[in-house]
Amino acid sequence: MKKISINHIKDIYNRELKYLKDGILNSKNPYHFFSLSTSFDNVPESRMVVMRYFSVSPLQIFFNADFRSPKVKQLITNTNCTALFYDNIRKMQLRFKCEAVIHYRNKLSKLKWDQTLLQSRKCYMGDYTPSEMTDDWEPNIPNEYSKKDPDRDVSEIGYNNFVVMELLAHSVDILELHHDGHIRFKVEDNNFFFIAP
Ligand SMILES: Cc1cc2nc3c(=O)[nH]c(=O)nc-3n(C[C@H](O)[C@H](O)[C@H](O)COP(=O)(O)O)c2cc1C
Repeated sequence: MKKISINHIKDIYNRELKYLKDGILNSKNPYHFFSLSTSFDNVPESRMVVMRYFSVSPLQIFFNADFRSPKVKQLITNTNCTALFYDNIRKMQLRFKCEAVIHYRNKLSKLKWDQTLLQSRKCYMGDYTPSEMTDDWEPNIPNEYSKKDPDRDVSEIGYNNFVVMELLAHSVDILELHHDGHIRFKVEDNNFFFIAP
């Protein structure tokens, strides 16, 4: 039977942190996206989001969203959430237990908004509340900008709806799939624990 040491899982962990860092800008890296799960009135809800930034110490994951969206409302009401990453090629799953912190009209959201491309700013300029039901197809981008980008000045209106969400991770559950026995462990406060797969 194979033996897996603590040093081996520490190496796996450090390797995955590097993949997460790479996933910030590399959209071909599966870690560029993750599934975010929230809950509201004890009902869970999941959706994909783009990872915009990742920091190791403290362990934080960042994504952008519309202030008006259900996910943001849910995270304000209940800050507990899960971020789930899966790399289908390397057969790695990372599950982070997090607490959400909202950055709305503050220094960080301003910094990230200033770096947001005009074509992305459009997504925050729609009149409809994201996820609201509409009678017809509604792209929720002002009509005049369906085929062109707004001027920078005009696009500033979108800042009212823009948030950077920080997910402060308390622990991470890591699963590496193997035919001869999966490797699973948890990292919490820099302590490593094996977990039965
Ligand atoms: C690949 C992919 C990436 C996405 N990235 C984001 C994102 O970064 N932020 C976001 O708010 N929604 C993103 N979405 C849309 C959400 O998954 C979701 O459909 C929408 O925001 C409504 O979520 P809510 O009703 O739970 O707020 C993405 C969807 C896909 C398929």
